[in-house]
Amino acid sequence: MKVGTISNYINPKTVIIFSLQFLLVIGVLGYNAWYKRGTECLKCHSDLQKMTGLGYPHFYVTQDMIDKEAKHPNVRCQDCHLGDPRTKNPDKAHKNMLSVLLISEEGEVLKRKGLYPDSLIPKGEDKIRNMLPQIEYEGRLYPHPLVRNVLWHDRDPVTFNYDPDITKKTCGKSNCHPTETKQFHSTIMATNYRQRTMVSWLEPYGPQN
Ligand code: HEC
Ligand code: HEC
Repeated sequence: MKVGTISNYINPKTVIIFSLQFLLVIGVLGYNAWYKRGTECLKCHSDLQKMTGLGYPHFYVTQDMIDKEAKHPNVRCQDCHLGDPRTKNPDKAHKNMLSVLLISEEGEVLKRKGLYPDSLIPKGEDKIRNMLPQIEYEGRLYPHPLVRNVLWHDRDPVTFNYDPDITKKTCGKSNCHPTETKQFHSTIMATNYRQRTMVSWLEPYGPQN
């Protein structure tokens, strides 16, 4: 059978179909890239007057503060926290956002809003508990009665295990730390395998080494 030249198969209809497909793919990828570069998190959080009006002046954060504190210049809020960076509605923006997990006595994730609206910064002299939510009563600090523990935002909220999928969407993105993330996934710390045989974190051979 004779295999014809490509031009035998090309007519105006195929050209139109291929062009439309091309535009669709570029359009979807472009829209996604545009969407992810939203700046609403920063706009709201770096507006001190607005954050004070909403009752949360302690969650006022500017790009400058993030650059200095997190030492990740030019990384956006959503690169680390996920969430929706294109909406001006805080509840929609915070949907599926990564944040600290407050765990109840029953081992469930508590809704932070309303329960513990304060910032989580070290409080008091007790080094073992000073990162846990604490409540001040008659000048003394007490552990929050409903919060048993705090886990950080790399955990699966159901199993509480380290969740590699979260890291793939955040730290491990192709233009950030993909190699380190891949290496980390086989460490004793990430797999939680034989951790109790370790005697220190780093030396001579600890889970973070
Ligand atoms: C219109 C204002 C507004 C926008 C937009 C907004 N936030 Fe917030 N954010 C707030 C307010 C107010 C609070 C405190 C009340 C609450 O938790 O909703 C808060 C709380 C937070 C907290 C701590 C609360 C917790 O649950 O631990 C984080 C983290 C956060 N925002 C990150 C983000 C990120 C990331 C985005 C974008 C994806 C974003 N915010 C968009 C106003 C906003
Ligand atoms: C380099 C990664 C990174 C970037 C960029 C980043 N954050 Fe965070 N942020 C964290 C981590 C890690 C924590 C602590 C763990 C947690 O609360 O989830 C945190 C905590 C917070 C908290 C909670 C503090 C508390 O008391 O619980 C707020 C509010 C917050 N970030 C808002 C923002 C906003 C708004 C931006 C952008 C202007 C931003 N972050 C950018 C990683 C980041």
